[in-house]
Amino acid sequence: MIEYRNLRIALLGAGSVGSQVARLLLEQGEELASRVGAGLELIGIAVRDVDAPRDADLPRELFTTDARTLIQSADVVIELMGGIEPAREYILLAINSGADVVTGNKALLATHGPELFDAAAQVGAQLYYEAAAGGAIPIIRPLRDSLAGDRVRRVMGIVNGTTNFILDRMDTEGDTFESALATATALGYAEADPTADVEGYDAAQKAAILASLAFHTAVPVEAVHREGITSITAGEVEAAKRAGFVVKLLAICERLTDAQTGVEGVSVRVHPALISRLHPLAAVHGAKNAVFVQAEAAGDLMFYGAGAGGLETASAVLGDLVSAARRHVAGGPGVGESTHANLPIFGIGAVNTRYQITLQVTDKPGVLAQVAGLFSEHSVSVEAVQQTVASAEPGRSPGEALTATLVIVTHEAPEAALSATVAAVSSNDAVVRVESVLRVEGDTP
Ligand code: HSE
Repeated sequence: MIEYRNLRIALLGAGSVGSQVARLLLEQGEELASRVGAGLELIGIAVRDVDAPRDADLPRELFTTDARTLIQSADVVIELMGGIEPAREYILLAINSGADVVTGNKALLATHGPELFDAAAQVGAQLYYEAAAGGAIPIIRPLRDSLAGDRVRRVMGIVNGTTNFILDRMDTEGDTFESALATATALGYAEADPTADVEGYDAAQKAAILASLAFHTAVPVEAVHREGITSITAGEVEAAKRAGFVVKLLAICERLTDAQTGVEGVSVRVHPALISRLHPLAAVHGAKNAVFVQAEAAGDLMFYGAGAGGLETASAVLGDLVSAARRHVAGGPGVGESTHANLPIFGIGAVNTRYQITLQVTDKPGVLAQVAGLFSEHSVSVEAVQQTVASAEPGRSPGEALTATLVIVTHEAPEAALSATVAAVSSNDAVVRVESVLRVEGDTP
């Protein structure tokens, strides 16, 4: 039997994921080599600062600050440095030097994905990125490969662990957003600047990557409708719980047909939403991630696990490395990107959603009819109305200005009609205030 030469592996970045990848590659190299059919030699680790502290004890002689030279000697380049530049430049250099690339760089893929995929396709190189969405969870390969023979209708996921941790604390412990965020920071889930997580930017990047694969359409991150969780109150979470819902930050990628034109397109959105406590995604606690996929032939599928963490994410990176290395040994084109469908990308206005709207209204005859009239004027059908305790507004005498809380759940309606309804309700004289407006996904409990 012919012995294949060792494959030269270059690693760019030695942060929490990179240092675990290097450690596992050094410790388990022989076992991985048996799976590949060739040795895997870590020839170097490019970093900015050779002496920076690392999560794993790695041989100092592997470190270099000369990324370009390292890349040009490698068969497979693993990019785990993050950020746009110089990661983009280094990946293009690797591709053009004949290497395959493994990356976990969601920000880069969500903004420059097509450029990188085209560059790889031109020279027959492979670009693997299982670690870019969902950490350890195998979701890229299922969408890119396993489901390539099916038509995916919807991908709905919890793809940010920090926000899931925060919302879960609010749900299970009754924490406020601020105190749950402080706990997430203390436990190391949230960064010192938590904006990317709590404002939904991180989830939007992952949603763009998942949607592009699911619908064979290049979806740039700018096309993703994004709302964060900073305005979710403890009261909303508590009320949701009483109604049998849980609040989750969801990334929803779906195939839609425009009601007016009949044209099929896709919509991608990230926002907090109520889902029934009976939905499988409601059981995703703490910082865990999960992605629920609905495909025409396969039906409902769910992928669950650790969405972050150095060791966990290293598993996804090493799986990609084994695939890339096998292809080097066995040849063949591997799995490529497909954007053949090139579907139009619709804005949030084209989406059909349900809302739960909580209002404080003055409690006098005709108010319910007035509010209901506003829904009807905008062709939004009401599924359920619940009126709870009437109470005197603070500072007013009982009987003079009683208020009631109305919780209205709508049927599915175009997002544009729902937003117009909420605007009309907010400016109605009988409405003291709009307490909360949350989208509802899936069935009512
Ligand atoms: N900050 C992300 C999260 C992990 O909280 O899920 C990296 O994508």
